[in-house]
Amino acid sequence: MKILQTPAEMRAWRAAHPGSLGLTPTMGYLHDGHLALARRSVAENDVSAASIFVNPAQFGPGEDYERYPRDEERDLALLRDAGIDAVYLPGVEAMYPEGYQTYVTVEGLAQGLEGASRPVHFRGVATVVTKLLNVVRPDRAYFGKKDAQQLRVIRRLVRDLDLPVEIVACETVREADGLAMSSRNAYLTPEQRAAASVLSRALRWAEELYADGVRDAESLRAGVRAVVGSEPLGELDYVSVADSETLAEVEGEVAGEGLLSLAVRFGAVRLIDNVTLGEEKGGDGLSGS
Ligand code: PAF
Repeated sequence: MKILQTPAEMRAWRAAHPGSLGLTPTMGYLHDGHLALARRSVAENDVSAASIFVNPAQFGPGEDYERYPRDEERDLALLRDAGIDAVYLPGVEAMYPEGYQTYVTVEGLAQGLEGASRPVHFRGVATVVTKLLNVVRPDRAYFGKKDAQQLRVIRRLVRDLDLPVEIVACETVREADGLAMSSRNAYLTPEQRAAASVLSRALRWAEELYADGVRDAESLRAGVRAVVGSEPLGELDYVSVADSETLAEVEGEVAGEGLLSLAVRFGAVRLIDNVTLGEEKGGDGLSGS
């Protein structure tokens, strides 16, 4: 497995591997969710690359950039075992050299939900993903559905900027109690970790309400609020029932495909999760998990 640290090295490797290429972009501290993306990439492409870059541009002031968990050696071993051929591992200086001043902003889609709580986040994500796609030149790039808004922002920028890449969305991978895998789960104390299953419990409750015929968005949001409210260690940041494509908040009844998402704080740790209500093909539900 090759390790490439600058845009020039990465481009040269790509030029020497002209077959179909899959890319799994990550910020490292890999878990089974990342590895599911990497393995799918390996299965679907001639060659596969992953990137590891903790992107300072997507962390706001006071967020966890400095303490974001890192374990490069373990990450590289896991990627090698998953069958990845090359890892793009740029330093901050290679990604944002002195004088850097160009950013990619996706407008409407990036504003609500995570964007409302984290104002610079999607500008940072859109910028780094555009740069990664530009340098690596993959045919397919793999992202998890846990970051539902990120996925939509990236699909939008790929369409709007005519980038020649297919964005492949992969199912959320969960722990046995339903908690969506996330590098940030590592921050949780044992008590918070036990309490964190409240996110998936709340989503499952909303799915049950929906299955019972409840379509009123406010009733679904209220159901989630009640479940999260029953967990003293968790503080609900937001719950949203939105149109799955535009992310516009639904007033009245959910029609077609809806995205129910939430963010919950456990002390300084903020976790997100979501479920699709309605028509998504292939299913994205938590039921039975
Ligand atoms: O989902 C992530 O880990 C990051 O937001 C991404 C897509 C790698 C961009 O830094």
